Amino acid sequence: MERTFAIIKPDAFAAGHAGKILARIYQEGFKVVGLKKLYLSKVEAEGFYYVHRERPFFGELTDFMSSGPCVVMALEADNAIMKWRDLMGATDPAKAAEGTLRREFGTSIGENATHGSDAPETAAFELSYFFAGLELL
Ligand code: CMP
Repeated sequence: MERTFAIIKPDAFAAGHAGKILARIYQEGFKVVGLKKLYLSKVEAEGFYYVHRERPFFGELTDFMSSGPCVVMALEADNAIMKWRDLMGATDPAKAAEGTLRREFGTSIGENATHGSDAPETAAFELSYFFAGLELL
């Protein structure tokens, strides 16, 4: 079993898609071991996306992620990191495969409905950024 970190981003939450995304998560066989609704501050979003701080879209990305409530989750499954990335689809919703969450719910490369860790080290950092060990059940 592996754990990954996932976000239902402010665009998808504001559009009322959180329930549908959570239903897909259960359907695909993930165990939700942690879940909370948060309204990130700009500074919290900057800390989370620190690795992207030199990218030209960093300001836009952190403004967006602090623009409204989101849902942060810890998901468990065999191969959870790849499995969640496959379910999300490509970063750009226009390039994401049919049936993926970003294809269905994303509207642009910035407002792409969901986030997921890309590697075990990233998952460890991202999970610990939002969850204390005692919160993951
Ligand atoms: P995410 O998986 O959350 O990781 C970093 C995010 O940066 C990514 O999803 C995109 O939403 C965002 N991103 C990547 N490229 C761009 C871009 N060119 N313009 C705006 N946002 C971007």
